[in-house]
Parts: sequence; C-alpha cells; structure tokens
Amino acid sequence: MNQRVVILLLCAFLCASEAFHRIAMQRHRHRKLPHGRHLWASRKHMRRKFGMPAVTTQSTANTSTTSAPSEAIEPLFNAFQTQFYGPLFVSDQAFTVQFDTGSSDLWIPNSNCSTCIKECGNAVFQMAKSKSFKANGTSFSITYGVGKVSGVTASETVSIGQISIKDQGFGLVSQTDTCSSFDGVLGMAYPGASVTGARPPFYQMIDQKLVDSSIFSFHLKSGDGGSLILGGSNSSLYHGSLTHVNVTQQKMWQFTMDYIGFPSKKCRRCNSCKAIMDSGTSLIVGPTEDITQLNTKIRATYNATNGIWQVPCGRISYLPVLELGIAGKKFQVRPQEYVIAYEGDVCITGFMDLAGLNFWIIGDVFFREHYVSFDVELNRIGIAKAK
Ligand SMILES: *[C@@H]1O[C@H](CO)[C@@H](O)[C@H](O)[C@H]1NC(C)=O
Ligand SMILES: *[C@@H]1O[C@H](CO)[C@@H](O)[C@H](O)[C@H]1NC(C)=O
Ligand SMILES: *[C@@H]1O[C@H](CO)[C@@H](O)[C@H](O)[C@H]1NC(C)=O
Ligand SMILES: *[C@@H]1O[C@H](CO)[C@@H](O)[C@H](O)[C@H]1NC(C)=O
Ligand SMILES: *[C@@H]1O[C@H](CO)[C@@H](O)[C@H](O)[C@H]1NC(C)=O
Ligand SMILES: *[C@@H]1O[C@H](CO)[C@@H](O)[C@H](O)[C@H]1NC(C)=O
Repeated sequence: MNQRVVILLLCAFLCASEAFHRIAMQRHRHRKLPHGRHLWASRKHMRRKFGMPAVTTQSTANTSTTSAPSEAIEPLFNAFQTQFYGPLFVSDQAFTVQFDTGSSDLWIPNSNCSTCIKECGNAVFQMAKSKSFKANGTSFSITYGVGKVSGVTASETVSIGQISIKDQGFGLVSQTDTCSSFDGVLGMAYPGASVTGARPPFYQMIDQKLVDSSIFSFHLKSGDGGSLILGGSNSSLYHGSLTHVNVTQQKMWQFTMDYIGFPSKKCRRCNSCKAIMDSGTSLIVGPTEDITQLNTKIRATYNATNGIWQVPCGRISYLPVLELGIAGKKFQVRPQEYVIAYEGDVCITGFMDLAGLNFWIIGDVFFREHYVSFDVELNRIGIAKAK
C-alpha cells in the first residue's frame, strides 16, 4: 500500500468519525428547594411516565388548597435541579426539549393549550405558520390519577442542530397538568414504547440517512450543560474505553444492573436486577425498601412534608462513594454528585423511591459523572467515566 492510499484510508476513517452532530445542552439550575407540593407532583409525573397507577398522597390531595397562583409557574418535574434540555425547531418554530431516553415520543405544546401558555410560559406550535404541516387525525390522551395530557398527532419537518428530519410524527399537546422549564420532550427510547405510534426522531434520522451511525451519546459532565452527540461517540470526552451492557427489553433502555450500594459501608442492594438508563429523570429512583436502606446507610433523614431525604450539607465530603456494578465493572458516583445542595443549607440525597416500583431508574445523578452511549442497532448501552 503506498502512502497516498494509507492517507486516503485514514482520512476516510477520520473524516467519517467527524460526521456526528453535537447539540449543546443547557442545565436548569434550581437554587431554592421547590415547594413540597412540586416535589410530590414530580413523583406523580414519574408515575405517569412509567405507567404506574397513581397513589393519593396527603400532599397531592391538598394541592389546590395550598397553592398560590404564582407558584404554578414553577417547573415541576425538573424540580431537582439536574435537568438538561436543548433546542429544536418544528418547521421554523423554536422550542426547547428535554432529550429523554425514558420515553419514545416527541411532544410539543399546541397553540390552543392555555395552561402551556398562561401557567407554564411555553413556546407553542402555530399550525397556521407552519410550512409542511400535516394534521393527522389521531388523538391521544393519557389519563393518570388526577393528571391528563392530551392532544392530536401531526407531522412536520423537525430540525435538531444541522439535522432536518422530514415528516416527523409528533404529539401536539392541547391539555396538560404539569409544567416544566422546557417546552416539550423528545423521546429517545424504543419505538415499542411510543404512545403516539410515530417513529421516534433518532430512528427517522437513521432511516433518512441523516446520521452515519446508530449511536447517540450524552456527555453531561460540564458545569452549565453538556452535549448530546447524534450519530456517534466522541472518545475524547471519556476516560479509557466504554463498557457495554446489552439491552434486555427493547422498550426502554433496560439492562441488568449487578448491584448498587456503598461498598465501604458493606451495603449492597439489588442482585442482578432490572434497571433503565433514563436521561429524563433527575435522581436515582428505586424500590422503597432499597431506597430506604441506601438513605439510612448514610444517615439521611426522611422529611415527610415533601417526601425527600435530607443530609446536613456539612457532611457531604464525609459520605461514602456510591457504586453501581454493571457488566462486571464498577461505576462510582461521588457524594458531591449524588447529594443536591439548595440555597439555605438544604441538602437532599439523590435516592428517591416510588411506591410499587420493581426496577431502578438511573437518572442524571449518574450521567453527571459518566459518559453514556446508546446504540439502537446493536441494542447496547456504553458507559465510561466522563472527562
Ligand atoms: C470531541 O470532543 C473534543 C473535546 O471536547 C472536541 O475538541 C472535539 O472537537 C470533539 N470531536 C468532534 C468530532 O466533535
Ligand atoms: C390536608 O388537608 C386536610 C384537610 O383539609 C388537613 O387536615 C391536613 O392537615 C392537610 N395536610 C397537609 C399536609 O397540609
Ligand atoms: C386544539 O386543537 C386541536 C387541533 O386543531 C383540536 O383537535 C383540539 O380539540 C383542540 N383542543 C382544545 C382543548 O381546544
Ligand atoms: C398518523 O400518525 C400515525 C403515527 O405517526 C401513523 O401511524 C398513521 O399512519 C398516521 N395517519 C395518517 C393519516 O397520516
Ligand atoms: C450481548 O449481545 C450480543 C449480540 O446479541 C451477544 O453476542 C453477546 O454475547 C451479549 N453479551 C452478553 C454479555 O450477554
Ligand atoms: C422538612 O421540609 C420542610 C419544607 O422544606 C422544612 O420546612 C422543614 O424544616 C423540614 N423538616 C426537617 C426536619 O428538616
């Protein structure tokens, strides 16, 4: 092989690896601990997201009596300060969306969603100003306990960074009971988990050959945001090599977690249990008994008013390192990442339970220290310590 061929081959390889797209993410920073009502609402939202029956808690039952109208604008399901979101265009209308590996639909608010406009302050979709909008008669509705999200499905050109997807199906929400600091959600889980039945955007990118590889990855370590990489993985953003774990059910990004716990405290929960990797959840969420064990092991105290576990802020640096066993490897999360500090010296742990949950949800607390890639073709998740 002569030198020129080698250079050409090298270029073919390197140039191809340059072809992925980086989308800058923003982090929503919540300094004040949200009102207890919002913390309970964030659980309600999670129950709905994971198709769990609603539970009536004292606090949700009292929602209407304790709420001052101005508080209704507060973000709900990003209440824990660690939510990431980025920009998206539908036709040429701009929105911010949460890139969520725990769901499979793209949703944005419709112009007739009065709650979205008045209470949440969202950007809303103006059909009349849209260029290639196709209404698609199907309506959808998810009703859960006291909450409901409903609307119609439609399709339009959807652009993320330099990528423009033609005829992307999405849900136009005309009614909602929760607000967030972003306008909509872009689901990145499997088509099988879609509620609207539309093919999820990343699959459309692959079908329409808009990305070179079937991989997307999150690097959420940096201070105020991070990045979502569509169509590849950037090895300069992590240490060593990725550890891969196979997806065990192609609906969510579900995998088998070997264990989770504090090795230095001889605390080990979960023995080859079900877990999902969810960029759309702030904390690490698990079955009640396990979460109680993790929290009591670090001497956190339960505050029944808002359902959170608190630790004295001054103790953070003395707390043990959390360890997750995945695919035979150890992944560690420092207390500085798993404890969330709010204004007024209130520190809460990143371990939350959800009554009746029989699997684990590995949220942003984990993503903040780990680079995570998702391969929809090989059906596997890659994890490495983030740089
Ligand atoms: C990969 O990440 C590094 C570090 O942020 C950056 O300098 C580089 O441009 C990235 N590579 C590509 C192809 O975007
Ligand atoms: C909820 O409302 C009931 C009846 O109004 C009241 O007795 C109870 O103390 C309230 N609970 C909280 C947590 O505010
Ligand atoms: C909002 O608009 C959609 C589409 O035109 C329509 O189907 C739906 O009934 C409207 N909803 C409300 C609450 O007005
Ligand atoms: C409506 O949308 C669904 C989901 O995207 C799709 O399966 C169906 O074919 C669409 N119907 C029409 C009439 O476009
Ligand atoms: C993961 O899946 C691949 C492809 O199905 C298979 O070859 C491999 O053995 C699996 N790895 C483990 C650890 O199960
Ligand atoms: C529980 O939380 C409430 C509201 O954030 C706070 O006012 C109260 O002091 C907390 N209780 C304890 C024991 O820390």
